[in-house]
Order: sequence, then C-alpha cells, then structure tokens
Amino acid sequence: MNNLILIGFMGCGKTSVGLQLAKQLNFKFCDTDQIIEEKAKDTINHIFESKGEEYFRQLETETIKELKGRLKATVLSVGGGLPIQTGNEKLIRDLGQVIYLKTSKDTILKRLSGDTTRPLLAGDQEKRIETLLSFRAPIYEAAAHLTVTTDGRMFGDIIDEIIKRTGVQHEIISDQRT
Ligand code: S3P
Repeated sequence: MNNLILIGFMGCGKTSVGLQLAKQLNFKFCDTDQIIEEKAKDTINHIFESKGEEYFRQLETETIKELKGRLKATVLSVGGGLPIQTGNEKLIRDLGQVIYLKTSKDTILKRLSGDTTRPLLAGDQEKRIETLLSFRAPIYEAAAHLTVTTDGRMFGDIIDEIIKRTGVQHEIISDQRT
C-alpha cells in the first residue's frame, strides 16, 4: 500500500508538507477536514458550533472508515484530533505508512497566531496548545510508524526525510486503467 498518512497537531504543516510531498511523488493529496467540509457542505467551525465536537469526531471516524481500500498513491493529511479517538489509530495504520510531524508548542503558537479556524484553540490559545499537545504528543508518537521533527526546517528538507525513511517510490502513470 503506497499511501502516506500525515498526522500531528494543528499547525504542524500537514497540509503544506502534504501538498508538496504529493506533487513531488506524483501522488494524489487529500485531507480529512476537507472531505468532511465537502460532505457536510459546512465549515469545521460551524459543525463544532452547531452540532458539537462529539458529532465532528463521528464524522472523522466515518470518513477514515470510508477511505479503506480506496486510497492508492495518496498523501492523506488527517485532522489533529482524529488519531486521538480510540480505535482510529488502527484505522489510519491500515491505510498506509503513518508519519507524525512533530512540532514544538512554540512553533505551533507562531504558526497559528491570529488563526480563527480552529475551534479547539479559541480563548487562551497558548494554554490550549500546551494542554492539548502534552496529552496528544505520546498518542501521535505511538500511532505513527515514524516521527519526523519539523521545528526550524524547510519543507523540502522534511519531505526529503519522509521519502528517504519511508522508501516510498515516485508514482509513474503509465497505464490509464490504474
Ligand atoms: C482539530 C484539528 C483540525 C480540525 C478541527 C479539530 C483537532 O484540523 O480537524 O479543528 O482536534 O486537533 P488540523 O489539524 O488540520 O488543523
């Protein structure tokens, strides 16, 4: 199964790294938040506000279950809370090689300063990041096949490390039937 699954805290670079990585490998790119927003025809913020976090977590689990057997040569970026729900860890590991983009609180804080799209970080953003990250970091680490640190690194450098350590091969499209 030649899929790469990117996990990690909000603001760790899953989307930016994922898009560039997919382009470099000639893979498809998809993102669970985007799939959910398209299916629900609603924004993550509004889903949280109108139906609550628990409902959103159900949508995440459904989404990951539906992807089983359907991903090929894909980089999948997964919402920061998805691997934390019991049982989801196995579901993502069944989809491909899971890579944890490990990022420090300070870097996340810098990247997400002024961001209003993450309902879980509303209020005292620094405190929220600190509390959530310390709880989640060991879970990300355990869920991943490999951990790649991102602090102070260029995306290109992170991508080179992912390609090298996963041994993933550039997809060659030679047959329209595939
Ligand atoms: C969440 C992360 C967000 C999004 C939602 C909840 C989380 O995705 O799924 O706001 O619980 O960490 P990103 O990790 O892509 O920001």
